Amino acid sequence: MDGTVWGDIIGIRPLRPTDAATLRRMLADPEVANLLYEELGGEVPSTLLLATGILANRLARRPDFGIVERYGRLIGSVRLWRLSACNRSAMLTIYIGAKDQWGRGRGTDALRLALRHAFGSMGLNRVELHVFAFNTRAIRSYEKVGFRHEGARREALVRHGRHYDVLVMGILRDEFFAREVERASNTAKETKA
Ligand SMILES: CC(C)(COP(=O)(O)OP(=O)(O)OC[C@H]1O[C@@H](n2cnc3c(N)ncnc32)[C@H](O)[C@@H]1OP(=O)(O)O)[C@@H](O)C(=O)NCCC(=O)NCCS
Repeated sequence: MDGTVWGDIIGIRPLRPTDAATLRRMLADPEVANLLYEELGGEVPSTLLLATGILANRLARRPDFGIVERYGRLIGSVRLWRLSACNRSAMLTIYIGAKDQWGRGRGTDALRLALRHAFGSMGLNRVELHVFAFNTRAIRSYEKVGFRHEGARREALVRHGRHYDVLVMGILRDEFFAREVERASNTAKETKA
């Protein structure tokens, strides 16, 4: 058993130090990095080109999740970070580095699994994320699992000489589980029909 929890399409499992090289390759892709990092200006920053060993050490200390296909290929990562025990909150970051897998439901599936973990076994009450206003695919995916728009850090980002807002989105435990119940009941109705 490697600790994989399965969703409808993909699974998530704790990352292992041996995954570091694959992740580093994904994060070094300018198209991916452009959607993830504020301090970038369209270039891959030198911090992304960390020695694989450094990233491997980080993963060994804090098990982030890898997103895996049924046959085991690692296609991305979802992680909960800036954990606050007293506020029962965390930030979430997700990416699928295998670009041929974008827009095929994998991200939404991984988000649901990560939120089940956050609000279930981790006992959190709130998960927050930041997303660039032009990243409409990501925003749609976040809305689908129940993240709400909470505000914007206006013109916090510059890309190719233009300013963009960075949107703040959040979801609470009760909102997530209410959606999960609704989703299960819709699936049950569809199965009966
Ligand atoms: C963001 C990300 C995790 C979403 O995962 P995904 O598997 O691609 O997304 P999904 O297929 O689950 O859902 C995407 C939704 O947006 C829609 N969509 C796809 N492309 C779109 C686009 N260009 N504009 C708007 N909506 C789009 C899809 O139709 C789908 O909605 P629907 O099911 O209602 O039709 C993934 O695209 C990714 O890793 N992108 C690169 C890194 C990134 O942007 N990370 C997030 C940083 S905040």
